[in-house]
Amino acid sequence: MRLFAGFLMASAILVAADISPEPVTFTKQVLPILQRNCQSCHRPGNIAPMSFLSYESTRPWAKAMKAAVISRKMPPWFADPNYSHFSNDRSLKQSEIDTIAKWADTGSAQGDPKDVPPPVAWPENGWTTKPDVILKGIPWTVPATTPKNVIEWATVVTPGNFTHDTWVTSIEIKPSELGVTHHICTGFIPHQPDVVYNTPEWVDKERDDAGVEVPPSQRTLRLPTANGTGKIVEGSDPRAARIDIGHVCFVPGRALQDFRIHNAAVLVPKGYDVLWNIHYTPNGKEVTDRPEIGLTVSDKAPERLMIASAAGSANPATFAIPPNDPNYSPDPIAIIFHEDAELVWMAPHMHLRGKDMTYRLEYPDGRSEIVLSVPHYDFNWQLPYELAKPIRIPKGSKLVITAHYDNSANNKFNPDPNRTVYIGNMTWEEMLGPFIGVTVDKTVDPSKVYTAPFSNASRGGA
Ligand code: HEC
Repeated sequence: MRLFAGFLMASAILVAADISPEPVTFTKQVLPILQRNCQSCHRPGNIAPMSFLSYESTRPWAKAMKAAVISRKMPPWFADPNYSHFSNDRSLKQSEIDTIAKWADTGSAQGDPKDVPPPVAWPENGWTTKPDVILKGIPWTVPATTPKNVIEWATVVTPGNFTHDTWVTSIEIKPSELGVTHHICTGFIPHQPDVVYNTPEWVDKERDDAGVEVPPSQRTLRLPTANGTGKIVEGSDPRAARIDIGHVCFVPGRALQDFRIHNAAVLVPKGYDVLWNIHYTPNGKEVTDRPEIGLTVSDKAPERLMIASAAGSANPATFAIPPNDPNYSPDPIAIIFHEDAELVWMAPHMHLRGKDMTYRLEYPDGRSEIVLSVPHYDFNWQLPYELAKPIRIPKGSKLVITAHYDNSANNKFNPDPNRTVYIGNMTWEEMLGPFIGVTVDKTVDPSKVYTAPFSNASRGGA
């Protein structure tokens, strides 16, 4: 009997070996997938906590990799594939998922070193694209905790040192401490003779016990906030209202805005300064963030002008998510185009109750199409969706954005399902912020291309 079973097992192994004679190895089958789909984040200095450059650093993660790719948690990607094609879509094919799973299940062998593909020449220090110019922000020490866990948004101006008009062809923002960085937005502003460099300014907002901004009609007292050393501004922050150009943001999952792939650039005039809008959230451990901006620049004019921007907000006067509402939908936002343009990327922004967002383009002739649908939004992954082919937006079109929010206890990120949630800066308040990138002809005034509602929205003003 035992002999018989042994014989059966032996032949089963033979049969399996016949079907798949070649074992899956790191060097031959796995590393090429990691180079294409994982290393952009999984390497020293970039956002993922472990490196997948070498066998030694990857091997301990084999089982976790299998689980992460089968569940499609990795690589992170949230766009519904039925709408538009995106050039930065790193989703794996089923055959690639099977390869990683099989490698994890069959001993995770290294394989023949001769099979190793040439390494990808990733830029140093974790940059996604190698910068020509690096602009440094101010170091910011984020305490372990603050009252109500609040650090108000702050703005800082640093020198730009542009000695001549400069075409900026990509902008990458790199915080050093991702765990505390809610966002860093930057842009370029005209130099003002009385500018005070390297000094944060913020508005000291009155907040209730849960850190929620108190609407102006109910304000009674001013509460101190803990932003470190800097200047508290009364009323609204004058810098926040300044019009900047080349406005881009770092949010989790979105660091680089590369205009080169669209043959476009932003023109920064000589002498302009750099405006930083910064939002940190304490994370239980004191850390010092040292943010940097990496630019690629060109002396040659591009084919098109790039306009990258947050495009409007839901109406802060009417936006209110009722307690325990699992599917709140505010009025849609309509971005109206006054010039012919090309849509090149989109990036939904909401906070912890954000559930889904859809961008629909309505043409002047009545046709309409969905250009992006993110059915399961995740605050931890605010990816940009780069269109593989720009979508032409004829003048007179509308880009209509709808979103839903889940304020029920089923939303595992929900800090408190029993509150009404309003528009506000903190993650426990909400936003409806559809970012878009469009390019236009060089003769067009970029400030006249589209209008978006409530572009400087805050629930109670300052
Ligand atoms: C856009 C950046 C990015 C890409 C691309 C990416 N990862 Fe990740 N990965 C991260 C970050 C950040 C984390 C840590 C935070 C987290 O777990 O969400 C992570 C975590 C992981 C983990 C740990 C998961 C866990 O449950 O603890 C595994 C395993 C992993 N990634 C595998 C992969 C594989 C395999 C690929 C490619 C097929 C890949 N990742 C592509 C950014 C990325």
